[in-house]
Amino acid sequence: MRIDVLTLFPEILEGFFSSSIMARAVERNLVSYGLVNIRDYATDKHHKCDDEIFGGGAGMLMLPGPVSSALDAVDAKNARVVYVTPGGRLFNQAYARDLAGEERIVILCGRYEGIDQRIIDAYVDDEVSVGDYVLSSGETAALVIVDAVYRLIPGVISGESLDEESFEGGLLEYPQYTRPAVYDSMQVPEVLVSGHHANIVKWRMKKRLEKTLLYRPDLLQGKGLEGELRAMILELIEQGGEA
Ligand code: ADE
Repeated sequence: MRIDVLTLFPEILEGFFSSSIMARAVERNLVSYGLVNIRDYATDKHHKCDDEIFGGGAGMLMLPGPVSSALDAVDAKNARVVYVTPGGRLFNQAYARDLAGEERIVILCGRYEGIDQRIIDAYVDDEVSVGDYVLSSGETAALVIVDAVYRLIPGVISGESLDEESFEGGLLEYPQYTRPAVYDSMQVPEVLVSGHHANIVKWRMKKRLEKTLLYRPDLLQGKGLEGELRAMILELIEQGGEA
């Protein structure tokens, strides 16, 4: 996959692309990337990239000219273009999987009050928000998207790790423990050291349901749980009712 990020502050993203699992993915040619400084495409001598908003209002907007030239420089019309903004659709794991299937993605980061609507109309496929809060700029939101997407590219991370984590299967992840079996007088749950695989699977599913019920009951709505899972969740609800 090729990822191009267009930004006024490429240095915010550089560390991520040159570190850890991403650095290894780049080295193994699973990912290639470009960090494009939109200011390099400003045409006046002060490299101006923003101006006042037509019709009035607080703050400044990014000028269409430099953004458009930067998009053309990465051939954005032939890529999936994502503009990160609190005014977009909410980012989630399903959307990350969708983006992970693309050959090329371009992520456009806004600063100030955002970008001129004509750029959105001409180039942008999706306006995407990473959550119902406002960040000072799009760069940190772009990092969230890049991180959630590239790790789903086959070969970047083992398939087994991906299958069991939160949101896969529509549930949060079960609790996990490592050595020592007793730490600071706290014991690892007995079932996990029992060697009884079927019981471990059952315990983990119960814990996934319990945690999802506690923190993200919205994920369970309309899920149509059947058989043993349905019995488990009814039991958990009943226990919750008694508490
Ligand atoms: N820019 C500022 N806040 C944002 C958010 N929540 N998501 C995406 N981009 C943003």
